[in-house]
Amino acid sequence: MYLFSSKMHKHTSLLLYFVGISILLHVIHGASIEEPGSLILGCGLDEGGAKDEDGRQWSPDNKFLATQNGSTTYKAAYQDPSLSSVVPYMSARIFTSETTYKFNVQPDKRYWLRLHFYPSLYGTFNPSDSYFSVAANGITLLSNFSASITCQALSQAYIDREYSLAPLNSDTLTLTFKPSDKQNGTFAFINGIQLIQMPELFDSASLVGFGDQTMDIKTLNLQTMFRLNVGGQYVSPAQDSDLSRMWYDDTPYLYGSSYGVTNEAKKDVLIDYQTMPKYIAPPTVYSTSRSMGTDKDVNMGYNLTWVFQVDPNSMYLVRLHFCDFYYSKVNEIVFNIFLNNNTAQAQADIIGWTGGKGMTTYQDYVVYVQDGEGDEQLWLALHPAPDSKPQFYDAILNGVEIFKLNDTDLSGPNPQPSDMLLEGESQETSFHTHKTYDKKAVIGGAAGGAAGFAFMAAICIAVYNKKKRVPGAVTQTSWLPIYGNSHTNGSKSTSGKSTTSANLTAMTQGLCRYFSLQEIKQATNSFDESNVIGVGGFGKVYKGVIDNGMLVAIKRSNPQSEQGVNEFQTEIEMLSKLRHKHLVSLIGFCEEDNEMCLVYDYMALGTFREHLYKGIKPLNILTWKQRLEICIGAARGLHYLHTGAKYTIIHRDVKTTNILLDENWNAKVSDFGLSKTGPDLNAGHVSTVVKGSFGYLDPEYFRRQQLTEKSDVYSFGVVLFEALCARPVLNPNLPKEQVSLAEWALLCNQKGTLEDIIDPNLKGTINPESLQKFVDTAEKCLSDHGADRPSMNDLLWNLEFALNLQENKDGSTHSATRTNDNEFEEIHLGDNEMANHYKNLSLGGQDELSQDATSSQGPTEIFSQLVSPKGR
Ligand SMILES: *[C@@H]1O[C@H](CO)[C@@H](O)[C@H](O)[C@H]1NC(C)=O
Ligand SMILES: *[C@@H]1O[C@H](CO)[C@@H](O)[C@H](O)[C@H]1NC(C)=O
Ligand SMILES: *[C@@H]1O[C@H](CO)[C@@H](O)[C@H](O)[C@H]1NC(C)=O
Ligand SMILES: *[C@@H]1O[C@H](CO)[C@@H](O)[C@H](O)[C@H]1NC(C)=O
Ligand SMILES: *[C@@H]1O[C@H](CO)[C@@H](O)[C@H](O)[C@H]1NC(C)=O
Ligand SMILES: *[C@@H]1O[C@H](CO)[C@@H](O)[C@H](O)[C@H]1NC(C)=O
Ligand SMILES: *[C@@H]1O[C@H](CO)[C@@H](O)[C@H](O)[C@H]1NC(C)=O
Ligand SMILES: *[C@@H]1O[C@H](CO)[C@@H](O)[C@H](O)[C@H]1NC(C)=O
Ligand SMILES: *[C@@H]1O[C@H](CO)[C@@H](O)[C@H](O)[C@H]1NC(C)=O
Repeated sequence: MYLFSSKMHKHTSLLLYFVGISILLHVIHGASIEEPGSLILGCGLDEGGAKDEDGRQWSPDNKFLATQNGSTTYKAAYQDPSLSSVVPYMSARIFTSETTYKFNVQPDKRYWLRLHFYPSLYGTFNPSDSYFSVAANGITLLSNFSASITCQALSQAYIDREYSLAPLNSDTLTLTFKPSDKQNGTFAFINGIQLIQMPELFDSASLVGFGDQTMDIKTLNLQTMFRLNVGGQYVSPAQDSDLSRMWYDDTPYLYGSSYGVTNEAKKDVLIDYQTMPKYIAPPTVYSTSRSMGTDKDVNMGYNLTWVFQVDPNSMYLVRLHFCDFYYSKVNEIVFNIFLNNNTAQAQADIIGWTGGKGMTTYQDYVVYVQDGEGDEQLWLALHPAPDSKPQFYDAILNGVEIFKLNDTDLSGPNPQPSDMLLEGESQETSFHTHKTYDKKAVIGGAAGGAAGFAFMAAICIAVYNKKKRVPGAVTQTSWLPIYGNSHTNGSKSTSGKSTTSANLTAMTQGLCRYFSLQEIKQATNSFDESNVIGVGGFGKVYKGVIDNGMLVAIKRSNPQSEQGVNEFQTEIEMLSKLRHKHLVSLIGFCEEDNEMCLVYDYMALGTFREHLYKGIKPLNILTWKQRLEICIGAARGLHYLHTGAKYTIIHRDVKTTNILLDENWNAKVSDFGLSKTGPDLNAGHVSTVVKGSFGYLDPEYFRRQQLTEKSDVYSFGVVLFEALCARPVLNPNLPKEQVSLAEWALLCNQKGTLEDIIDPNLKGTINPESLQKFVDTAEKCLSDHGADRPSMNDLLWNLEFALNLQENKDGSTHSATRTNDNEFEEIHLGDNEMANHYKNLSLGGQDELSQDATSSQGPTEIFSQLVSPKGR
């Protein structure tokens, strides 16, 4: 993993650590204290164990090893920034041959078993060589398991697996790690093990699709797949009742564009468990819900649906939590519950079950997910049940848990990272190293649906607060068609189209051009590979020719990636409304036959990065002035995003590959796929899942899971140092303290040795004052706290100042001189003018600004600008 920490950033790491580990450790907390039989083992820890930041003691694991040879302990070579934890992740036990642990257990009790994996380099052990199986008393938990592949597919640094083991009828639990014998040189490893006695949570459940049959769960082993607080927020282990579980936001799993509405119990409503044990689920889960909405006709026309990726050919226990805190009479709301198209429950009436307002209940169903293409999904759908003539046509859900069931084998195949992700990453890392023990350079890439309980990792704290949603943004999404998921083509191609077309028309008239698939294919020579000019988190980017000669860049979504779909939608929405000289212009889009493409202006000179690092293209070394101008252009684009549109837009993935250059070396910011609209400037931040690229990530964003425009400023600070030093932001081949450019540059600046790491091509050409101004600015951007970082406006001010200082030195202020034939338009301003200019900087000058759609300007003008781009 890439190193983020070093002594210097110790405090940062500790804070990161705190966030990450406090989540994990609370898990251990509750149960372990009162349960005498619980164990918390940090594998490979020295005698005496170690404490984590939370003060929890992790014991060494060696005395539980039944076989003393065949295993060794190692420290991880790198501490991933999202990992943020030393104990238990930074130490591991490596098994080169089959090895067992033995634990004493009570034969008649159910146990939680949690396994923690951090695939990093351990000595010479490369995690991508590691395939292994894990078994507990003969129950296969994992087989041919690659923690590295799994983490990569989920875009996470580490994963935890949670199992619930049925009473073992034995006083010993034997946990066996066995390297795969199918490949040479494989090994197994483990970072942490928790074994916690638990109350009996499970009884029996009705078997969906098999009449009245029920299934006894008591004797089955379970793996936790999903645990969601429907209509509510992330619930941390500390907020959970007794069992220290984590409950996640359900929005990432909602299908289509129909989100229904979320509800929250009023303060005066008492959540009443009656005879139900409190540990079933905390009150927070029962006091929020999602329902369909108030419009009877709308509700009758759709299903409130969640879709989960699961391993095929297996049984799943689906536990649904209900509590109606609004209505109190029987037959007010009655609905049907479907699981994979089968009726799991007809005419569910919550009050009928519970007896009154605020009373809780849960229902268990078992569903079999078949093997077969497109069947590795579990669909949960709710629909009003009109037959029972309820007073309101609605449906409600408060929480859902999904467990995989089996008595002997809980293992599943490794997830498959999409080709696109792999390619994107190899491209990303090609700048760094030939060593690919870790290809995980992109966090925000196109991880497929989160499979497994790996979702627990700290970077996935999805805090989705409905109150912070932008009203405008919500309604704007309504035109988006129900793309759904590429695995099912049945209903989508027809119904999806009919709901879309009316609004597509509206859109094409107003905001951007619609391309038919035929046109796109023609433009790209049927997506010919030779036209690929890049690969991003979203999909491949092709060069294309439209309208007899106009060059465009066409982004084609990867149909495998649902995340890509969302980002596609975000991007159309955002870009079609944003026009600025320093933003890449969207020309149009295509949505047909499951193909989604975005058509942009072609940026002839490619990315900023490829002009900074050697060996990528015939090098045309950028002068200091050019670099400053590019930085200024990009800063203007970002400044416009932050302040120029109706809502604050945070880019979230500012990096040199997202700064593109047109044929005149104008910088344009691209890739809004990850953008989030902020509420407004006053509200300050949006809470969200951490996305972005390693090396550029704001440490505060990690700590607090809160996104502000200052996160972009941090990333931009890294870009500034990259422009100055012309080296990758992360280079794992360098000595530890130099791996991260951000840290290394700050350290050098502190020691006064920054000169040494400046791009040698620039030596002697930079005016010292310009350099000083630039470096001071970049350093401020990298402040630990967002509040200490400059605004984009101040940043722009300072960069312009640095440019001005440089130009005065050059004596070239009044003539655009360059060695090649690219023209530059200069800002020729004297000192006084400069001062005035700064005052006027707010939006970078009127000529750069056309309008966003929310301004008073009519849509037709934008339209004409967009659909007749030949004039540009
Ligand atoms: C270590 O394991 C090997 C088999 O892998 C066995 O032959 C050897 O006797 C073991 N050594 C000890 C000290 O247990
Ligand atoms: C393992 O290595 C040996 C010799 O290096 C080779 O003959 C054998 O085919 C390899 N087996 C596998 C499964 O790769
Ligand atoms: C348990 O897993 C095995 C192997 O995957 C499978 O054959 C069996 O049907 C599963 N049993 C249940 C109850 O799902
Ligand atoms: C809701 O789901 C059920 C089961 O899959 C299906 O039969 C029904 O047609 C769906 N209703 C709508 C309106 O999509
Ligand atoms: C879902 O159920 C409906 C009838 O209820 C059926 O027509 C349809 O084929 C089913 N779809 C699948 C994918 O099983
Ligand atoms: C083990 O997993 C890898 C990666 O998912 C896969 O390519 C390979 O075929 C698997 N091997 C076996 C024996 O299942
Ligand atoms: C399509 O747009 C029209 C107005 O242009 C709006 O009334 C309608 O709700 C939209 N349809 C969808 C599915 O969003
Ligand atoms: C899905 O698409 C494939 C090929 O495009 C087609 O053969 C199949 O019939 C489609 N399935 C449905 C349910 O329309
Ligand atoms: C700044 O703006 C004022 C009016 O807003 C204008 O008169 C002045 O010329 C501008 N100065 C510069 C340097 O652009």
